[in-house]
Amino acid sequence: MIELGRRLATTITMKVIKHLSIIAVGLALLPSWAIALPSDQLFLGPGSCSSSNCHGDIKPRNSSNVLQNEYTTWSKHDRHSKAYLTLLNKDSKKIASNLGITDAAKAPLCLSCHATYVEEASQKGERFRLEDGVACESCHGAANGWLKTHAETGSTHADNVKNGLTDLVPLDARASLCLSCHYGNDEKTVNHNLYGAGHPRLSFELDTFGVLQPKHWVVDSDYEKRKAPYIPVVAWMTGQARQADETLRALASEKRSKNGTFPELSLFDCFSCHHNLAEEQWKHRSYGGNPGQLKLNLPSLVILKEAIAPLDQASSDQMGELLSSLHKEYKVTGAKDSIASLTTLVEDKVIPLIARMPHDLGTTSKILSRIASFASTYQWPTFEIAEQLGMGIQATLATSPQLAKVYAVELKELFATLKSSKSFKAERFTAAAKKLSASVVRAPR
Ligand code: HEC
Ligand code: HEC
Ligand code: HEC
Ligand code: HEC
Repeated sequence: MIELGRRLATTITMKVIKHLSIIAVGLALLPSWAIALPSDQLFLGPGSCSSSNCHGDIKPRNSSNVLQNEYTTWSKHDRHSKAYLTLLNKDSKKIASNLGITDAAKAPLCLSCHATYVEEASQKGERFRLEDGVACESCHGAANGWLKTHAETGSTHADNVKNGLTDLVPLDARASLCLSCHYGNDEKTVNHNLYGAGHPRLSFELDTFGVLQPKHWVVDSDYEKRKAPYIPVVAWMTGQARQADETLRALASEKRSKNGTFPELSLFDCFSCHHNLAEEQWKHRSYGGNPGQLKLNLPSLVILKEAIAPLDQASSDQMGELLSSLHKEYKVTGAKDSIASLTTLVEDKVIPLIARMPHDLGTTSKILSRIASFASTYQWPTFEIAEQLGMGIQATLATSPQLAKVYAVELKELFATLKSSKSFKAERFTAAAKKLSASVVRAPR
């Protein structure tokens, strides 16, 4: 099973170096967006993109705007190309048998996230193969409308989008796409039934996972001119806001809760049930008058509340108040009102606030300082929240070459505590976060 922490810890140095070249300049976000599947779409399969003159070169080319080795990167280095094959392995067989499914590789439940899942035979082109897993069109959309025209000289990104290419440049839209599989929704979800059967725990952060994928595109000045700049801290906060929104939807969903008063187990903090009693957490934790109770798993909301504080203290305070009423009320009333108010706050205020945020070193430093201090004072963090804090801190540092360089050592030490959920020790994370936070007081501004 995957341990994200270990992968993060080993890729972190590479990632920081990769990000050193990123310059913080303006970025406009477009409105929220959802994936639809109109019936005139025809999925052609990645075989239609893989010619060496198109996206299948072995090495990146200098002669065109794009790298042209995207297919090679995807098929060799990107787990998405193996997503279907995973359904044939031993773990998947065991998961399926635990669930009473005969064949994971034929089950719509698994295929909906582990392949370009197209139900209608009439929407599959000649070269479409389920075996290709999560391929180009899972993310870029069915290619029939734009395959011919997109490589013509003079065709712009806007033209391609008009012809049906999914626009993944707006980070809001990109996050929604990734989260549809990496968090799930009412149509496809990894619920506690699936976890209980053995599915690895899902966790996602837009900036970090973009680098881990790895990226088959380069944000250089040409890309910025054609599309938009990419700011890691904005990607992180946008991803958190989208995930906060998805979490609230899940809590409000009739499909994922029982009568709205007891959400599905996967919406609670996994490690509040799954931990060793020998740790005697009660000796270290403070429970604020609520010991022995289940805790909702809301890392994105909790972290977002901190991250937006330097941008808009009032919205952050409002979020804090609504979060505490949510925690108090969900057991009794289902907390429908708090969930609705939080949804409005996230969608109408927080997402636009992030889209408008300044991209200067001062703002990034203030956010870093706030989040590092929060990480260092968080009482007895679970692995879930610690991992999200770690990824958030790394995305913030990656925004500025200056910050990334100054705190490289502290970041590495923090990630060393996140190597695996099995060996995770809250007190080690807190100590590393304290060290980072103490030196961030001297952050360049
Ligand atoms: C159609 C569903 C789907 C979409 C959309 C999707 N993913 Fe994935 N992703 C998966 C599946 C399934 C896996 C696991 C593949 C495997 O190992 O079998 C995965 C794996 C990954 C991994 C590797 C994780 C690891 O621990 O090795 C990264 C990184 C990743 N995805 C990033 C992204 C990003 C970034 C986006 C959005 C731009 C995205 N994904 C969109 C389904 C999806
Ligand atoms: C909501 C989307 C979703 C559904 C439904 C889903 N998966 Fe996954 N699965 C993922 C993602 C995303 C990952 C990668 C997690 C990561 O690395 O962060 C993954 C990872 C896995 C892995 C680990 C892969 C590895 O590289 O070790 C296995 C095994 C797996 N899934 C099997 C299944 C089976 C079997 C089913 C159906 C019973 C299923 N999944 C249903 C999204 C999904
Ligand atoms: C998991 C999602 C995902 C998959 C799978 C995927 N892409 Fe992408 N791709 C992205 C994202 C996100 C971007 C960045 C947004 C953008 O530039 O449009 C991108 C960007 C690109 C670009 C733009 C480069 C530029 O400089 O403008 C090309 C070309 C591309 N992808 C081709 C492919 C091809 C070919 C495949 C299949 C072999 C593929 N992608 C598979 C998510 C994906
Ligand atoms: C309310 C308590 C509770 C919460 C919260 C909870 N679980 Fe469970 N979990 C259980 C129980 C009870 C079982 C069944 C144990 C058994 O069969 O022995 C279980 C079983 C499992 C199993 C299979 C047994 C094992 O040890 O391998 C996995 C894996 C699992 N849960 C993962 C998760 C994940 C991931 C989350 C968070 C997304 C989570 N659980 C949240 C109570 C919980």
